Amino acid sequence: MMASTVIKGGTVVTADLSYAADVRIEGGVITEIGANLQGDTVLDASGCYVMPGGIDPHTHLEMPFMGTYSADDFESGTRAALAGGTTMVVDFVLPGQGQGLMDAAQMWHNKSGRAHCDYSYHMAVTWWGEKVWEDMEASVKAGITSFKHFMAYKGALMVNDDELFASFRRVGDLGGLAMVHAENGDIVAELTAKLLAEGNTGPEAHAYSRPPQVEGEATNRAIMIADMAGVPLYVVHTSCEEAHEAIRRARQAGKRVWGEPLIQHLTLDEREYFHPDWDHAARRVMSPPFRSKDHQASLWAGLQAGSLSCVATDHCAFTTEQKRFGKGNFAKIPNGTGGLEDRMPMLWTHGVNTGRLTPNEFVAVTSTNIAKILNMYPRKGAVLVGADADLVVWDPAKEKVISAASQQSSIDYNVFEGQKVTGLPRFTLTRGRVAVQDGEIRPQEGHGQFVGRAARPAVNRALTAWKDLTAPRPVQRSGVPATGV
Ligand code: URP
Ligand code: ZN
Ligand code: ZN
Ligand code: ZN
Repeated sequence: MMASTVIKGGTVVTADLSYAADVRIEGGVITEIGANLQGDTVLDASGCYVMPGGIDPHTHLEMPFMGTYSADDFESGTRAALAGGTTMVVDFVLPGQGQGLMDAAQMWHNKSGRAHCDYSYHMAVTWWGEKVWEDMEASVKAGITSFKHFMAYKGALMVNDDELFASFRRVGDLGGLAMVHAENGDIVAELTAKLLAEGNTGPEAHAYSRPPQVEGEATNRAIMIADMAGVPLYVVHTSCEEAHEAIRRARQAGKRVWGEPLIQHLTLDEREYFHPDWDHAARRVMSPPFRSKDHQASLWAGLQAGSLSCVATDHCAFTTEQKRFGKGNFAKIPNGTGGLEDRMPMLWTHGVNTGRLTPNEFVAVTSTNIAKILNMYPRKGAVLVGADADLVVWDPAKEKVISAASQQSSIDYNVFEGQKVTGLPRFTLTRGRVAVQDGEIRPQEGHGQFVGRAARPAVNRALTAWKDLTAPRPVQRSGVPATGV
């Protein structure tokens, strides 16, 4: 007989339902859900919600970027994740210029062996050529089926529209998911040069260089290009109404387009960049930048209405020392903030405790929706018999004040410093293993496993082509139906 663990006396909360039940776990998976279950180990969940562990769909651990490496690696990053109730991260493999995708994936495998919880990868398409086109198939076969494109970071990671179109078509043909960092990189470069020439070198100029219009324009452009390419699209770090509006319109037209707000954009605003302390402002430099309160309201509305689907962190943490590379030139401040440990408690506090989101909606946007979009449901994102026992026993009465002094992340500050949160994990379980118990972390390096995902060629083909399904369609010489009519 395998040793069993029973989570007893809690309320199971999924994306659909809330109900009182015990949950039994054996061999890392859920084996029974019901009343009065017995087990070798009993975890007391009275007064708590038993939810699918969080899935953070957007992290950058130990990533080479802007002349340095992001400071949290798979060890500290996944330890932080578990502390906050997140049991899986999806990290971006970032090939160098000219580097093959599978070569880069191997580099990520070498780093991720230290992970405390499960993880998957997205593949970044950072340059374009025959080798990338070829490797994309190998990537899909290896279970990395989502491909992210940077429309910004001109001269470094940015891909142009012709490359975007070619790559999107390839992703569509392979049954994968296209993703974009949507900011108009040409205009950001122009505005950056102008600001610097005029002597605007401080962190606040970072926000001026990336106004909402550059994000709205790029989001809309990516949606239209994805439509012509016949590929579903996931827009990372949606931060403003202009981008959200483009996503809403696309979804209303029947396109498979998803938007991902970050917990930082939902709870912090542009005033952070005007703080008199340079370090304070620079620590909050990320792309897209924090926006005004009006944009925040739009993002919350999108989560409520379902036009925005998943809350992420884009965890890309840099120390104060690293941020200081940009003293005298805001364009050299490494872009990125942390948040892995704080996403769930911050969203619960500002989303559920305020009445904006139901607990079920909280589960949907922190876990279940992304598990479905990335084709790993119900192994992940579910409380069901047979699902991985990636669970969080959530105590809605537990409180703390966020502070860098007590965080797992290896950086020396926290952008949420001083914020009081109500709602924290009592237990976090990663494939049945108790990794957090009453605020005490019991990490196990290397426990995490890679989660490969299968392509979905049939599902992933439904943008505006549905409009003329009944009409005779013009056929190109090659026999391929014309797109986008
Ligand atoms: O500023 C950010 N977001 N840094 C991480 C890389 C990216 O653009 O997602
Ligand atoms: Zn990005
Ligand atoms: Zn990112
Ligand atoms: Zn460790």
